[in-house]
Amino acid sequence: MTTSLPNTSALNDIARALVAPRKGILAADESVPTAGKRLAPVGLENNEENRRLYRDLFFTTKGIGDYLSGVILFEETIGHKANDGTPFPQLLAEHGVIPGIKVDKGTVALAGFADEVITEGIDGLRERLQLFAKQGMKFAKWRAVILIDEKKGLPSEPCMRSNAGLLARYAALCQEAGIVPIIEPEVLYDKGNHSIEVAEQVTTAVLERVFEVVEAHRVDRSGLILKTSMVLAAQGFDGAQSTPEEVAAATLRCYKASVPADVGGIVFLSGGQSAEMATVNLAAVNALRAKENASAKSGLQGAAPYPWEISFSYGRGLQGEALEIWAGKEENKQAAQAEFLKRLQSVSKARDGK
Ligand code: 13P
Repeated sequence: MTTSLPNTSALNDIARALVAPRKGILAADESVPTAGKRLAPVGLENNEENRRLYRDLFFTTKGIGDYLSGVILFEETIGHKANDGTPFPQLLAEHGVIPGIKVDKGTVALAGFADEVITEGIDGLRERLQLFAKQGMKFAKWRAVILIDEKKGLPSEPCMRSNAGLLARYAALCQEAGIVPIIEPEVLYDKGNHSIEVAEQVTTAVLERVFEVVEAHRVDRSGLILKTSMVLAAQGFDGAQSTPEEVAAATLRCYKASVPADVGGIVFLSGGQSAEMATVNLAAVNALRAKENASAKSGLQGAAPYPWEISFSYGRGLQGEALEIWAGKEENKQAAQAEFLKRLQSVSKARDGK
């Protein structure tokens, strides 16, 4: 068992590579039940072979290495092979893509707090991480889920605090194993009916708590990646949906208030936004970030107000359109891969504010 301090610069190197210009992460780490939710609408049974074929579609797309810095895998996929027999981790390495692994075991009801959930998977995590490191995994992901319901007073303080505590413990264990943790407190967009103002308030509160515990647990912030939802009104909000300009302003305000300057990088999840919306909103965030950083530099303040690279780590936002075209049929594969590449190209431009 190792308890030595992590090699901080090596962790920071990986974190920075994950948010390199033009590039971001593909979240291809759907658990077995979540994979089922993605495959069912296109008429595919949720069996191991269909899940393998689903990964094959994306990982064998030529040119992905130009837009993807990393791919988050699900445990099962590490042992799977592409149709031509190449093990998936090897195939990704050939594309120059860094392999990562989802290590949480999903959510369960938080006892005493109906409607809220807590993420499981901390028991035995030290040993699992050591194995993942041996298998070549360079980064990991842990997702916490936060539901907003104003009428019920959610999220509750215990939900935010318990999830923050687990994210910090997970992050410390990852760094001990030489693996960069992605800490993902997802504030749900596709459930609830809250406004953008409420989303901003809750996301800020969640991130403040997360970074308070991360600090207390002596996690090296420069060797971690923060993954969040964009700040925007819920899909079920009564009023108008948030514009890209509103999303950009609210998200950057939230980060400025709650994210320490030395965090290794920030990425967004798509969270149920359409691929186009997730692309346009990412472009708006990075355009505003660049503009405000440039004006601070030319003014008297000097320091950039938004020091972090902000990129993408999308699942549905990258895979959804191609999945619909493919629908499990070999004859549709080429068209589906072309669609995937097209989306990658737009999201990559958006990552640079275009
Ligand atoms: P979506 O982009 O589909 O939200 O998935 C990203 C993710 O990793 C959620 O945990």
